[in-house]
Amino acid sequence: MRALSGIQPTGRFHWGNYFGAIRQYIELQDRADESFYFIANLHALTTVRNAKQLRQNTLDAAIDLLALGLDPKKATLFVQSDVPEVSELCWLLMTITGMGLLERCHAYKDKKAKGLAADAGLFAYPALMAADILIYDSDVVPVGEDQNQHIEVARDLAGSFNHLFGETFVLPKAYILSDSAKVPGIDGGGKMSKSYGNTIDVFEPVKDAKKKIMRIATDSRPVEEPKDPETDCLFQLYSLFAAKEQRQAMAETYRKGGFGYGLVKKELADLAERYFAEPRERRAELEKKPDEVRDVLADGAVKARKKAAEVLLRAQTACGVK
Ligand code: ADP
Ligand code: TRP
Repeated sequence: MRALSGIQPTGRFHWGNYFGAIRQYIELQDRADESFYFIANLHALTTVRNAKQLRQNTLDAAIDLLALGLDPKKATLFVQSDVPEVSELCWLLMTITGMGLLERCHAYKDKKAKGLAADAGLFAYPALMAADILIYDSDVVPVGEDQNQHIEVARDLAGSFNHLFGETFVLPKAYILSDSAKVPGIDGGGKMSKSYGNTIDVFEPVKDAKKKIMRIATDSRPVEEPKDPETDCLFQLYSLFAAKEQRQAMAETYRKGGFGYGLVKKELADLAERYFAEPRERRAELEKKPDEVRDVLADGAVKARKKAAEVLLRAQTACGVK
């Protein structure tokens, strides 16, 4: 089984990115026969329009992933644009992609609905993502719930291409864990996302993270009243960090009532601080050695290109441009 995923370097990673996606990258690097993870700088170009910023974000993303446990001995880590074969496969796929399919995809649809002008890059975004996935013969794609639609597109396009030109691509499947498919934001509703400004970043200074945790939205019911843990976003965030027994004890406390949310927030802050303490130290070390990180990315690109060239040639031969 081959695992693959990409993550955009559009800013610092938050808890949603970690629990929804990155944690699964790390889990799969041990379980998959092979795994490929890349920093999606070509996708990020649809939002980041500053060269220096994009380069810095790309390096930061690589440092973050390594600090969080991605191991280049087990997984291939690289930058999307270092594999130009992907852009070529994207074109082949676009020639068989219906406009309707792309019109239904949420990134473009949401922007249109807000009355904002979208560019062709954003419109074709899912076709590039399909190329990213199909070019490595990927079987499983670890992502958060919001990316499921795009993986369905990749699967559809693989199926259409195979139907038109004969067996060429592996049909990929999303790998989404139900307990972290949609990490809630600190505003109490919806998913945690950079676009909603409701995030806590993985490597945010501990003091700032604590302040944000204390601001997590909760209801104003009296302390004595029993509460349902399942519908409380503070409890959901707590659960991401807590061990099973801690989670059960906290759920019990909720159901009994007679506690304040401040207590839960304090426990959450302590758990989160401990959870990310080691990665934080590793990050500080890696930050001092950017050239080593660039070497990891360069090695990763060589490995990724080898596989990508093989699959691209297969697709080119199937459709007759080679
Ligand atoms: P953002 O919404 O902050 O821009 P991205 O779209 O860059 O985040 O997401 C990167 C990865 O993290 C994707 O696999 C996505 O599904 C996952 N992800 C992002 N936010 C969440 C969330 N709140 N819960 C679960 N997964 C998430
Ligand atoms: N679109 C994804 C996101 O915003 C990033 C991405 C690009 C990706 N290519 C991919 C994810 C291929 C999985 C597989 O999060």
